Amino acid sequence: MNIIELEDVWKVYNIGEVEVAALRGLSLKVERGEFLAIMGPSGSGKSTAMNMVGAWISPQKARCSLKDRISLT
Ligand SMILES: Nc1ncnc2c1ncn2[C@@H]1O[C@H](COP(=O)(O)OP(=O)(O)OP(=O)(O)O)[C@@H](O)[C@H]1O
Ligand SMILES: [Mg+2]
Repeated sequence: MNIIELEDVWKVYNIGEVEVAALRGLSLKVERGEFLAIMGPSGSGKSTAMNMVGAWISPQKARCSLKDRISLT
């Protein structure tokens, strides 16, 4: 069962008149109990993606679901 599903997630930050696309159509599925590493160069959107999974920020366009709480204990 997937506990996290992101489908075609977009996030564009607006800095004044400048638009910075942090995520352009990210899709991700994570199964219960799965371990994964998210790797990429600085600025590729890793923190933006994780903040979205944690619901700290909202996507502008997406289907996102978090089926269960993630327990860190
Ligand atoms: N709060 C913000 N306001 C404006 N732009 C942002 C904001 N947060 C991130 N960005 C921009 O979005 C893009 C993705 O940034 P993000 O921090 O998600 O990348 P990252 O992969 O976590 O980078 P790093 O490896 O340096 O932590 C970058 O171009 C960054 O400058
Ligand atoms: Mg980061």
